[in-house]
Amino acid sequence: MTLLSVALLLGLTAVSVRGQSPVYGQCGGQGWTGATTCASGSTCVVSNPYYSQCLPGSSGGGGGGSPTTTSSSPSSTAKTLKFVGVNIAGFDFGCGTDGTCDPTKIYAPLSQYGGPDGAGQMQHFVNQDKMNIFRLPVGWQFLTNGAQTGTLNSANFQKYDALVQACLNTGASCIIDIHNYARFNGQIIGQGGPSNDVFASLWSNIASHYSGQSRVIFGIMNEPHDVPSITTWAATAQAAVTAIRNAGAKSQMILLPGNDWTSAAAFISNGSGDALKKVVNPDGTTTNLIFDVHKYLDSDNSGTHAECTTNNIQSAWAPLATWLRSNGRQALNTETGGGNVASCQTYLCQQIAFQAQNADVFLGYVGWSAGAFASDYVLSEVPNGSTDTSLVAKCISPTSGSQHGSTGQ
Ligand SMILES: *[C@@H]1O[C@H](CO)[C@@H](O)[C@H](O)[C@H]1NC(C)=O
Ligand SMILES: *[C@@H]1O[C@H](CO)[C@@H](O)[C@H](O)[C@H]1NC(C)=O
Repeated sequence: MTLLSVALLLGLTAVSVRGQSPVYGQCGGQGWTGATTCASGSTCVVSNPYYSQCLPGSSGGGGGGSPTTTSSSPSSTAKTLKFVGVNIAGFDFGCGTDGTCDPTKIYAPLSQYGGPDGAGQMQHFVNQDKMNIFRLPVGWQFLTNGAQTGTLNSANFQKYDALVQACLNTGASCIIDIHNYARFNGQIIGQGGPSNDVFASLWSNIASHYSGQSRVIFGIMNEPHDVPSITTWAATAQAAVTAIRNAGAKSQMILLPGNDWTSAAAFISNGSGDALKKVVNPDGTTTNLIFDVHKYLDSDNSGTHAECTTNNIQSAWAPLATWLRSNGRQALNTETGGGNVASCQTYLCQQIAFQAQNADVFLGYVGWSAGAFASDYVLSEVPNGSTDTSLVAKCISPTSGSQHGSTGQ
């Protein structure tokens, strides 16, 4: 069974009755071992060899289990993204964009460590919003208690692992995100800073801890930027992939981030795609090596303004979808979002609808951010009890209907 199937199976069983897939749920594809019959009023339709989906339409009651092949183009049929969730930030607090992270400045999003209840937030997002993925940012320095080494500090790692376990306990998939901008204390990994071997040993130690956990996803680095050589960075990414696989995490997803703050718009034009597509597993395949892309919707793609000005479709998502399809690869959008304002509801919902129409190459999106942020943070997705922020309720939540809405095109 592939990791994706495991993640989907667990994600779907959390939200649907076992035995029959809901409308827009998965009902087949290579490695799929879940339900192959569809809820009444929908039919199982093949999207691609890896994914068949229950789509609304007469089927004589939705039984059968024998998918119907269609030759629909990627955007002509309603689809559903495999992963939707939010970031649960806090263990990254104190990290600057130069890769300096003060381990004493973290704000653990866990009530047992005196912080906000990130575990309760995740449970809420799974139960109420039907989310199935969380990204858990952490500074490298926190994991090693400030030392430039791959050796984990056991007391600090235990605290971070409590957040990972709280995520796993919800049934969701959980992204481990080293939030260091390709750097350690101002210097780029493999290009003047820590050697690739040190970075690889960090990942080896993390991966060996989670090698038996199929729902852990390894996000090797948050937002590399101003990296002089993208091919040298790809060699660093290769070292991390090799270390993770050799530590026993042989099939989990690994996220590969490009330069330019992992911008989805610069991924192709600035060479990240061409460099990172050469990164391989020890067996030479690229199975479950997924590209990591970010995109905000404000005027300068910084994710610091409340107002949104673009849905990014023409500038980023459409060319990226074409490139991914022609290269036989997939991407996950692990940061996106905007303020809790009308302009972001319009544009983010359009972006999500477009991603869903291209669900063969886009695995999903993860909003920025819930966790330890204050409720007045401009991009806050922290729920107030059982009440979601307006952008979560209107666009980010899978229950909002945004995946089947208009792209504005
Ligand atoms: C491409 O990468 C270079 C080198 O890091 C950087 O200076 C430039 O701003 C990038 N271009 C875009 C469009 O992001
Ligand atoms: C949270 O909700 C309560 C009502 O349930 C309300 O009184 C309070 O002002 C809300 N807090 C914020 C920060 O919106």
